[in-house]
Amino acid sequence: MSSTAVTRVRTALAAQPRIPLAQLPTPIHDAVRLRDALGGPARCPRILIKRDDLTALGLGGNKARKLEYLVADAQARGATTLITTGAVQSNHARMTAAAACVAGMRCVLVLTATTAEPALAGNLLLDRLYGAEVRLVPSIDPMLAVGQDEAIVAEVVAEEEASGRTPYVIPIGGSSGIGVFGYVAGSAELVEQLAGLNIAPTRLYYASGSRGTQAGLTLGAVLCEAPYRVYGVAVSAGEPEKIERARRIANEAATRLGLPERLDLPDLVTDQSFIGEGYGIPTSVGLEAIDLLARSEAILLDPCYTSKGMAALIAHVRSRELTPDETVVFLHTGGMPALFTGEFASRVSGGDRATP
Ligand SMILES: Cc1ncc(COP(=O)(O)O)c(C=O)c1O
Repeated sequence: MSSTAVTRVRTALAAQPRIPLAQLPTPIHDAVRLRDALGGPARCPRILIKRDDLTALGLGGNKARKLEYLVADAQARGATTLITTGAVQSNHARMTAAAACVAGMRCVLVLTATTAEPALAGNLLLDRLYGAEVRLVPSIDPMLAVGQDEAIVAEVVAEEEASGRTPYVIPIGGSSGIGVFGYVAGSAELVEQLAGLNIAPTRLYYASGSRGTQAGLTLGAVLCEAPYRVYGVAVSAGEPEKIERARRIANEAATRLGLPERLDLPDLVTDQSFIGEGYGIPTSVGLEAIDLLARSEAILLDPCYTSKGMAALIAHVRSRELTPDETVVFLHTGGMPALFTGEFASRVSGGDRATP
């Protein structure tokens, strides 16, 4: 990295409205016991875990970084109600509800569910605790976890306006040009931490959904001259629309920051081979990753996102695509509330899975 590059990024970000919502910087954990469980230093690269599950806002996760900029933009526009969409167990929705509490705003969540009466557990339970109003939409495609929510969002917007309130719609996953600032800032933080530790990892693994994190991490890596290649592990289908979205919002963010760099499609790496049967459906390698991290490091992954990201890293250790002399970073993006749903509990009750 060059410290001039990071300073330039920080200066550009400082001109953007932001409200502090996350506990930053998040720690970096050297996962030595996980490395041992995967064959030790002779077989496995050094694995650093960037703990963005510990951003603190409303039980933590990656969305806290995006929401710092999105909620500030909402407030700058005089908004009083945050509206967003997602799956019924959306971490983004839960963190938006939590951000609304901190910012003194109302929150309406339009959530896609596969059943008419989803269990009041995990993120949905927290949405209610944070006082959000929840509207449910039936799901039309489990591979994508989408429903026809636009009409309901338009209805909510009209209702809020009719009640004299000012709504602000945050796109799914907080993935917009403004949301991208979160992981541009997160990249500056990470690149500085790595430089301080004198470590130059070769790859950064993370779970990729709506692609705002991808746009921010990839743009941030270019702007901050990061040593690592950003390696997204998809948890849902949706190409080529999603890579186009990542490029568009990354370049919109660069324009807003007044910086000349732009991303092109080859810059945006996404591995599609760990999705399994679809969004939110656990995979056997993902469940193994949850076990392995819990038992080796007492770090909790989630069945929907981080388990699939970590499963890719583990598979690449085993296939020797990663070599023992490398260091890799795994960005832990949070998502633990999904562990506390009945659905997940029924997948772990077998008791015959791997112990490190
Ligand atoms: C725990 C977790 N990890 C990763 C992601 C993916 O982030 P993005 O939607 O920005 O691709 C999400 C998004 O909801 C998430 O909740």
